[in-house]
Amino acid sequence: MNIVLGISGGIAAYKAPDLVRRLREHGAEVQIVMTSSAEEFVTETALQAVSGRPIRSNLWDKDAEAAMSHIELARWADVVLIAPATAEVMARIVSGGAPDLLTTICLASEAPLVLAPAMNHVMWSNPATQSNRAVLEERGVHILGPGIGSQACGETGAGRMLEPNAIAAAVASLAGGKLEGAMKGRKVVITAGPTREPIDPVRYITNRSSGKMGYAIAQAAAVQGAEVVVISGPVNIAVPAGVEVQAVQTAEEMHEATLAAVADADIFIAAAAVADYRPAQVAGQKIKKNNEQMSIELVRCPDILATVAALDVAPFTVGFAAETEKVTDYARGKLEKKRLDMIVANRVGSDCGFDSDDNAATVLWNDGEKRFPTTSKTDLARDIIELVAQRFYAVRGSDTEPRLTVISNSD
Ligand code: PMT
Repeated sequence: MNIVLGISGGIAAYKAPDLVRRLREHGAEVQIVMTSSAEEFVTETALQAVSGRPIRSNLWDKDAEAAMSHIELARWADVVLIAPATAEVMARIVSGGAPDLLTTICLASEAPLVLAPAMNHVMWSNPATQSNRAVLEERGVHILGPGIGSQACGETGAGRMLEPNAIAAAVASLAGGKLEGAMKGRKVVITAGPTREPIDPVRYITNRSSGKMGYAIAQAAAVQGAEVVVISGPVNIAVPAGVEVQAVQTAEEMHEATLAAVADADIFIAAAAVADYRPAQVAGQKIKKNNEQMSIELVRCPDILATVAALDVAPFTVGFAAETEKVTDYARGKLEKKRLDMIVANRVGSDCGFDSDDNAATVLWNDGEKRFPTTSKTDLARDIIELVAQRFYAVRGSDTEPRLTVISNSD
């Protein structure tokens, strides 16, 4: 596979040499095209050494153009990948401008275009960038990431470039102009974030879930080519590219939305921290502090995961177990009691699990388990999704029909 790797000017450009090595491990020939601002972050010398080809950066370089013109380069590419893709380069591609070699190749090439955005999280969630992302996706551009986590600017959020091995794996699976990930053609429904159970018009019961783990799982499934629907409690996270989010507040609403969404889903992953109990009565007005003590009667919320796993035609069902002690023992109990296909056991506490950017987990299934040591939630999610895909095909068979297709065939 011939890859034109465009590098634009963001701090994540320092990962470009590693990305080139990963792409070459997949057998790709890599021709690097840098923008002038990328040269501020990574040297031509390093990139030439790892790619084994002279670096292209100038549209007006007569010698380079004589050897292979920009039009020939655009035709040579089986894939044009831009990593990192800055907000500026995304905007230029949307507008159809071609002021430099990289954007000229984007205009002149018929090869699939893949972008791995990287920028400050506020820049990523800016309506201008989000509208550019939507336009690019509509035009069939594949957008990988960005990941969620700590950023070079010292802030945290969605905007990190995906790790080079994840980008290389996704690009390597490009075939016939389409992204063919392990979950291509599969619908994956994911619950994420907390729920809020109202007490009165101004108060509610909730928990410390930020939604980071669930959204990272959603992004990893989208990178693997799945159609992804997230049923999300209230969180403050930008929607990953290629993911549909349905926002809910309460466990009851999450239950209802999930049951509707899983009707044609192949895989269900319950990463949300759903309330187990809610107030039996919701006061119509703000409760006054008239008494020294008060108590709130709580009633059970529906168990969404157990309900989905017990459906007559259930999707491949993966639960999470958030435990403070005996983590794998309790998780295996939940796996068996709720008759799940898999469960992801993670320790939670004041300093781990909830809200942090990192996590560790042990994934359990009927006759096996795999431990993943502490890493970023983005990387952990990628590993979990790969394992879920393997187990899904091992259990259901590699030729199992996507349920979306089965349902539409019977219409
Ligand atoms: O969101 P973050 O800040 O990134 O934190 C991530 C996380 C710690 C929330 C996540 O990794 C996690 O562990 N999610 C599951 C939290 C949880 O509610 O665990 P549990 O052991 O109480 O529940 C077991 C399973 O049943 C979970 O899959 C849960 O989604 C599901 N459940 C629970 C109650 C309920 N009423 N309905 C459910 O579906």
